[in-house]
Amino acid sequence: MAAALITGSSRGIGAATAELLAGRGYDIVVHYRRDGAAAEAVADVVRAQGRQALVVMAELADETAVRSMVEQAVDRFGGLDAVVANAASSAFKPLGELRRHHLQATFDTIVGSFVHLVQAAEPHLAEPGRIVTVSGFDTVEMLPNHGLLAAAKAALETLTRYWAVELAPRRITVNSVLPGYVETDSARLYAETSHPGGWEAARTAWAARTPAGRLATPGDIARVIALLCSADAAWITGQLIVADGAMTLA
Ligand SMILES: NC(=O)c1ccc[n+]([C@@H]2O[C@H](COP(=O)([O-])OP(=O)(O)OC[C@H]3O[C@@H](n4cnc5c(N)ncnc54)[C@H](OP(=O)(O)O)[C@@H]3O)[C@@H](O)[C@H]2O)c1
Repeated sequence: MAAALITGSSRGIGAATAELLAGRGYDIVVHYRRDGAAAEAVADVVRAQGRQALVVMAELADETAVRSMVEQAVDRFGGLDAVVANAASSAFKPLGELRRHHLQATFDTIVGSFVHLVQAAEPHLAEPGRIVTVSGFDTVEMLPNHGLLAAAKAALETLTRYWAVELAPRRITVNSVLPGYVETDSARLYAETSHPGGWEAARTAWAARTPAGRLATPGDIARVIALLCSADAAWITGQLIVADGAMTLA
């Protein structure tokens, strides 16, 4: 039996990852913050594939909540084989408009939570085990109003590489996936706050920038995460995997 905890798995990339990993034999911790009904719907898809699902609500900026989520997962599944740090939230603003609470919330949610998540999960991780973080191409290429999120993701990438070295003796790999544009609620929110013409204009422009002529689906990114969770990826660790259909290259 294998078990995976995926943060932010009530929707978007996290939900697609939960559903895919269930199909590959994992019991799943479905984590959410606000939308319990969406999390339960993902859990139903997990159970329909014959796997167990544990739905946990946790505000990731709260260390106690993160540690409690891991405890609940360990109580239910006895340990974890894979941890996917996927959830993120931030303020989409020019750097000049950022206030202390924006910095605090973004860094607590993305950077602090990852440290607390791995600290709590690490004693219970299988050997071999897998940790995957979800960063973004905004650490590679400037995006309007994305400076704060990108800075937190850059820190997340650095922590990914450092954890990879610390955990390598236990055959636990730690890698990061950097998606390009993906069709999710958060991409829509970003477009509506920061792209002239809103979501439809952004979607058309982003697809035109991508050699395949489309945005990624959540499933495209989930399959990369699942690949890194697989036995075949045992020798890949400490890496930042850009999964953008060659958009940044082109
Ligand atoms: N979409 C893109 O184009 C794109 C591109 C590059 C990278 N990424 C990255 O991919 C990851 C997933 O993105 P997505 O677009 O799939 O996300 P999404 O649809 O916006 O979903 C975000 C998930 O994270 C949870 N979440 C957000 N803030 C939280 C907090 N403070 N505490 C606990 N849970 C929280 C949400 O839970 P609730 O809904 O319950 O609040 C939800 O499950 C993110 O790290 C994002 O930065 C996305």
